[in-house]
Amino acid sequence: MCGIFAYLNYCVPRTRKEIFETLVKGLQRLEYRGYDSAGIAVDGDKNTMTDDINNNIVLIKKKGKVKALNEELYKKDCMDLEAELDTHFGMAHTRWATHGEPSALNSHPHRSDKNNEFVVIHNGIITNYKELKKYLNSKGYEFESETDTEVIPKLIKYVYDNREREDLSFSTLVERVIQQLEGAFALMFKSRYFPGEAVATRRGSPLLIGVRSKDELPTEHIPIQYNTAMFKEGVKEKNSHNRSDNSTAVNSVGDSKAVEYYFASDASAIIEHTNKVIYLEDDDIAAVVGGKLSLHRLNRLAGEDPVRAIQTLQMELQEIMKGNFEAFMQKEIFEQPESVFNTMRGRICFDTNKVILGGLKDHLKEIKRCRRLIMIGCGTSFHAAVATRQILEELTELPVMVELASDFLDRNTPVFRDDVCFYISQSGETADTLMALRYCKEKGALTVGITNTVGSSISRDTDCGVHINAGPEIGVASTKAYTSQFAALIMFGLMMSEDRISLQARRLEIINGLRILPELIKKVLTLDKKIKSIADELYEQKSLLVMGRGFNYATCLEGALKIKEITYMHSEGILAGELKHGPLALIDKHMPVIMIMMRDACYTKCQNALQQVTARSGRPIILCCQDDPEVSKNAYKTIELPQTVDCLQGILSVIPLQLLSFHLAVLRGYDVDCPRNLAKSVTVE
Ligand code: AGP
Repeated sequence: MCGIFAYLNYCVPRTRKEIFETLVKGLQRLEYRGYDSAGIAVDGDKNTMTDDINNNIVLIKKKGKVKALNEELYKKDCMDLEAELDTHFGMAHTRWATHGEPSALNSHPHRSDKNNEFVVIHNGIITNYKELKKYLNSKGYEFESETDTEVIPKLIKYVYDNREREDLSFSTLVERVIQQLEGAFALMFKSRYFPGEAVATRRGSPLLIGVRSKDELPTEHIPIQYNTAMFKEGVKEKNSHNRSDNSTAVNSVGDSKAVEYYFASDASAIIEHTNKVIYLEDDDIAAVVGGKLSLHRLNRLAGEDPVRAIQTLQMELQEIMKGNFEAFMQKEIFEQPESVFNTMRGRICFDTNKVILGGLKDHLKEIKRCRRLIMIGCGTSFHAAVATRQILEELTELPVMVELASDFLDRNTPVFRDDVCFYISQSGETADTLMALRYCKEKGALTVGITNTVGSSISRDTDCGVHINAGPEIGVASTKAYTSQFAALIMFGLMMSEDRISLQARRLEIINGLRILPELIKKVLTLDKKIKSIADELYEQKSLLVMGRGFNYATCLEGALKIKEITYMHSEGILAGELKHGPLALIDKHMPVIMIMMRDACYTKCQNALQQVTARSGRPIILCCQDDPEVSKNAYKTIELPQTVDCLQGILSVIPLQLLSFHLAVLRGYDVDCPRNLAKSVTVE
């Protein structure tokens, strides 16, 4: 839920100002992960030393967004910005509060003591922090924040202080610390006792390392072993951002020459510096000493050091820039013709009507034999499951359960070996979804990931899966990931039904629909002005109801989620069939209602709901097919959409609601990309 970024320059002279700029830019790229406070740890000037230990560490922390931290950095007139640092390690963090309110004190880096002997940044949650805190308190260690994280720097100092005569390396100290930690973490450590050294580790939260060296990577002493089978991602998905073709396995990098390392929670903060990255696995410990990066495993046996791939990122810098758009969310909404196309690219052959998802094909037989499909996700990703459930039941002829990950776990839902469980997640890191994955793995079910983030925990920990290839999604409100998840799940249904003669006509209809879908999305996007004018009328309202049924019910849920998430208006997605069972009481001439009435099997039933609304003086804004006189005469306003196959219509009908929520949020004066209290990747349960 937080963003970690760290930068180590070894024998690459950089001014302190350049280092600040690198750290701040890294944080800005990760700001979508959390933005209530931020902080950095850097080396201070030698002449500001207050005691006999070289390399005093300076912490600068500030409540608010990274911009506020940036302003703070340049107020530190005790630091010489032009000082050139040949070798330096700096860490930065942007926070989304879990323990303790947003404040400078609760923000990271956290420290071991007033002399900043050890400092730590953390993404995740330490579940046994109370016990550790109690123990450390009893040993005289004093705490200054309300966070769970603070036990970590205190604990490493405790290990250091009690090392007796042992000469412990920095990474060994860290190893001893993480042996005691429960919960989820990605951690970076810096210490004044180990100048120019960095230690990184993770368990359950993502962390990757970018390597930039003048030498072509890998250097002569890097390659140890090359084994694609180790990297499931590589064998999983040939035509996605896979790792198989351009990765090299290593367990150490760098020689004594100039080298720079970038540590980050995700690739978007690294890509502008280098496209060579190493994804850490759970319980890996990475240490840079003397410019050389080496990897170790927690509790390793002799000779058991890990081999990890140096991957080449396929991401383009421009993918994570806002360009001419006002907000990332807006950019991502307008990218949908391409992102949906990219989800299908190389996977559907429109000449032969074949669909091949490379990451699933080896498991297809097993999936076909299963007793049921269970689709698990949170928020928008859950809605993608709701949106495709009906067509998946039709095409796979299997029962399909859709589950909110948290509720699925609360119920201890029975899961069997012959179940196939799907984990739908843009980030691939959502804690509830990951927990559900672990739960189902224990039960022996086959696990399938549907993710947008290559190298994410879900994409690594599932047996097989599909990368949706929507490109980086930065706006906290998910838009293009939803339509790509939707398209990917439809493709899965098509792949499953290829040999069912009775379903061929239906398959053909859907495949033809998918072929022209990007064009239809473009047409829907031309409605932007009209939708803005509707937003002009609605933005001062308190509440907004979104109603529909059948294939478009998920659009109601997703539209309402978008509205509440970024406009802070109350909004509810209502199944039109449920209207008379309660929600009808909300309807009067003041309550804004959006209805979705497409020409599909539910059209007549939706007309009944429309009558119920207009009979109570409601003034519905109706999303409908072009030229529908029946609807037009009863609507207060219409938004006319191109018609497509019933099961694909939801991809088109959600876009006006994405646009509407965007315009409402702008008109209400809110930060569209960083809604209050939220973060992009929810890595806490
Ligand atoms: C959507 O706009 C939300 N920000 C949120 O509901 C999100 O979809 C949910 O947290 C799940 O995230 P994931 O897809 O990364 O797992």
